[in-house]
Amino acid sequence: MDHKTIKDKLTFVKKDKLIISIIGIAVFLLMGFISYSYMIPEWKSYQSEFKELVEEKFGPERAATVPTGLQQVYVKELNKADRCITCHQGVEWKGLENAPEPFRTHPKEILEKHPVNKFACTTCHGGQGFATDMHDAHGLIKDWEEPVLGRDLGEFYVMSDKKALMQMNCNSCHRYDKSTKGAGYINRAKELVNEKGCRACHVINGRGGTVGPDLTYEGMKSPEQFNYERIKGFHSEFSWQIAHFKNPKESVPETVMPNFNFSSADAQALAMLVMSWKKEHIPIEYIPGHNFRDIPTEEEKEKEERMLKGPGAFFVKKNCFVCHSVSTLGIDAAAQIGPDLAMAVEDVQSRFGRTLDDFLEKPTGTMEVVLSTMITLTPEERKETIEKLRHAYDIYQQQKKDAQLAKGK
Ligand code: HEC
Ligand code: HEC
Ligand code: HEC
Ligand code: HEC
Ligand code: HEC
Repeated sequence: MDHKTIKDKLTFVKKDKLIISIIGIAVFLLMGFISYSYMIPEWKSYQSEFKELVEEKFGPERAATVPTGLQQVYVKELNKADRCITCHQGVEWKGLENAPEPFRTHPKEILEKHPVNKFACTTCHGGQGFATDMHDAHGLIKDWEEPVLGRDLGEFYVMSDKKALMQMNCNSCHRYDKSTKGAGYINRAKELVNEKGCRACHVINGRGGTVGPDLTYEGMKSPEQFNYERIKGFHSEFSWQIAHFKNPKESVPETVMPNFNFSSADAQALAMLVMSWKKEHIPIEYIPGHNFRDIPTEEEKEKEERMLKGPGAFFVKKNCFVCHSVSTLGIDAAAQIGPDLAMAVEDVQSRFGRTLDDFLEKPTGTMEVVLSTMITLTPEERKETIEKLRHAYDIYQQQKKDAQLAKGK
């Protein structure tokens, strides 16, 4: 009896040993396989897949011409060495328009004006040109360290056009275009900058007022330079800009920047535009039309000259016209940021309970900032302002009477 059990026990131990060694070997092999597959770079499997795809579609001869190994586009003038084509091998192929990424033929029209050998990839798309691993190359880290400005980021920021973020990069060269085909968000934002008269308070490309900060190189600020205390949700420079455009006072309570009631899409477009304003060294041959300047339009210049000859010339010379119309003196503000001054005499009294003289001597709100940072009025000029505004108000009242008479008839 005893004999048998001991024997049984022994075979049992032997069996255990066997099982343990089998498991051991299996684990060893698995580890080996895992580290082996880590050693094969990701791009190699894309390259063999691409070869198979080409063989399937165009035959073995074409497949034999597919280059292997690391591929890159080097553009000395732009200081770019992008390895994206290591995986995106089909970019310049014909006939792969419907292939899956990363093998698809690139949209053609854009590359006609910007050939890959002269523009590389990251110039438009962003991303880490040197990386050969997809996650690193696409740079999908959530702060703004040069990620591919593509679909994932567009989704993250709930853009209605998921691919629009790239337009920020288009604008580093197309900055001085009034409008650029294919950059709808940037075009819209440029329109808004004119329409809303941002230049009343901001210098942009060397022109504008000084109530707010110079925005010419707004895109050079780093994310840490913004205060996120009052920003809800995710914190990045882009989200700060959007929130600030939607409601400046919510981010910066003491600001005099008006709330323009921008829609989300408009706030996103403006955020993209101001972030595209970087100081970059782009050779002149890469600037369309070789235009490095932002020149006032003929229309703008003509209007200013016309107003300078009329009875409201004083308000043009003193730059009040940047924010105010004085309708009865023929002054028509580009952007109606402040009220029409034709009614100021009565308006200041009813809004602030003060006389115009008193208000101009001790202004509050925006005018306090304007008269301390942007425009100085000597005591004589203040007197002249008041006289002119009284005159404007007299005309306003006369016009009102005339209108009532006309109605009465
Ligand atoms: C290791 C291979 C690899 C490298 C290197 C690589 N990509 Fe990709 N890329 C892919 C794959 C795979 C997809 C499709 C899957 C996806 O969209 O995530 C893709 C998709 C894309 C897309 C379309 C999706 C989107 O986000 O809009 C863009 C744009 C893109 N890549 C740009 C680039 C750029 C620019 C580079 C160079 C900085 C680059 N890729 C480098 C593999 C790569
Ligand atoms: C002049 C700017 C420009 C250059 C240079 C450029 N692209 Fe593009 N790329 C675009 C535009 C514009 C689109 C179309 C986006 C859209 O559909 O809205 C695009 C589309 C793509 C797509 C498909 C994106 C998608 O979401 O479907 C990929 C992938 C891509 N490009 C990769 C590359 C690679 C790789 C290079 C370099 C070899 C490159 N691009 C060079 C502007 C450029
Ligand atoms: C590195 C500078 C650079 C970048 C980035 C760039 N472009 Fe251009 N683009 C040019 C130059 C230079 C020309 C003029 C080419 C010519 O005259 O043939 C041009 C021409 C064009 C044209 C033809 C009409 C015209 O203005 O001459 C369009 C449309 C255009 N670009 C759109 C885009 C879009 C959209 C993007 C972003 C996806 C972009 N560009 C990015 C430099 C750039
Ligand atoms: C009445 C004056 C005024 C007008 C008009 C105005 N701003 Fe501002 N803006 C300011 C002031 C003051 C600040 C600084 C305080 C703050 O951040 O709000 C500012 C801040 C900014 C900032 C943040 C700068 C930074 O880095 O802190 C941006 C961007 C900006 N404005 C863009 C615009 C744009 C675009 C428009 C037109 C749609 C515009 N502003 C119209 C006064 C103005
Ligand atoms: C950068 C834009 C800007 C400039 C330039 C500017 N103003 Fe104003 N002004 C405003 C705003 C905005 C208001 C409305 C009050 C407020 O919101 O604080 C205002 C209000 C006024 C008022 C009170 C009007 C009323 O009906 O209540 C007077 C008067 C006035 N400004 C005179 C002037 C004069 C005179 C100049 C030129 C010396 C001038 N402003 C230049 C933005 C400006």
